Amino acid sequence: MATVGEIKVTRTTASRLSEVDFDNIAFGRVFSDHMLVADYRDGAWQSPEIVPYGAFQLTPATTTLHYGQSIFEGMKAYRNADGKPVLFRPRENFERMNRSAERMVMPAIPESLFLDGLKELVRIDVDWIPTQEDSSLYIRPLMFANDDFIGVQPSGAYKFVIFTCPVGNYYSEPVKLWVTREFIRAAPGGTGEAKTAGNYAASYYAAEEAKENGYHNVLWLDGNEHRYVEECGTMNVFFIIDGVAVTPELSGTILRGVTRDSVIKLLDDMDIEVQARRVSIEEVQKAYDTGKLDEVFGAGTAATVSPVIEIGSHEGVMRLRPDEERTVGPALLKRLTDIRHGVAEDKFGWVVPV
Ligand code: COI
Repeated sequence: MATVGEIKVTRTTASRLSEVDFDNIAFGRVFSDHMLVADYRDGAWQSPEIVPYGAFQLTPATTTLHYGQSIFEGMKAYRNADGKPVLFRPRENFERMNRSAERMVMPAIPESLFLDGLKELVRIDVDWIPTQEDSSLYIRPLMFANDDFIGVQPSGAYKFVIFTCPVGNYYSEPVKLWVTREFIRAAPGGTGEAKTAGNYAASYYAAEEAKENGYHNVLWLDGNEHRYVEECGTMNVFFIIDGVAVTPELSGTILRGVTRDSVIKLLDDMDIEVQARRVSIEEVQKAYDTGKLDEVFGAGTAATVSPVIEIGSHEGVMRLRPDEERTVGPALLKRLTDIRHGVAEDKFGWVVPV
């Protein structure tokens, strides 16, 4: 794959770092000083630049605004026990971004642009990595179509951007999920596995219904039979049923989560059986009714490992035991956190120095 030229860096003259209250950061609302930007035009990536974080000028005809040709990633940087910045499995995000690019007919991003660009950006904004417990620097790589035209066809120009934000927990409390049999997130042959903007916009309608019923988000079922659990839109989902970890298989309609994969490997390492397979909501209900639904939790970059405390639907409510009474979810979260911070052995080689 082609490499890109050296990264030109223009530093801000007005850092906003001192204005940030790192003890009270709302997720995704505070942005670090710099961003990396690279343009794709005439069939090639142009040299990337790191510039002060700020606005782009877009015309109303910018194709991504109309047709949604836009993809992104979510990953995190941490400080290890020695205070050094590290990334968690960045190559997985790079590879997933390029799979999304292929599905959305967008140009592949060269490894050097993604990985070297990302490291350089994190080095420059290293002081933005929070040191508070449960906090990290969330990294958002983004590519969007940037041609000016009206017409349904892939764009010829794209903008690739990486920007970062210091974050705490995405969910500040145990998560309540609402099951809908009416709406779906994705269908076979669709874009469910791609991390593309439209998947999220399409989820808002059902998410509103979830909120109206007092739930945080939707637990999506499959698009064909409206029976099999898929994911929750902000995270993949795991059920501990009678001591066995069950998670929906990768069928092309759910996100191939990096945290999902890490959790599966850690469960295996903890000698907990993992079954990645179809799991119907009726099976979950039956496990609940018979007292075998030990735990439900979500796994995602933003969400980390988040306990699901309630699953509701028009058919009834499943109330799950609180985090204090769980063993698997809290142990996974601790293990992942300790690996990321260099406190536990990184036996899978997940942690990459910046
Ligand atoms: C992530 O987990 O990184 C996502 O993109 C999901 C979103 C809830 C922030």
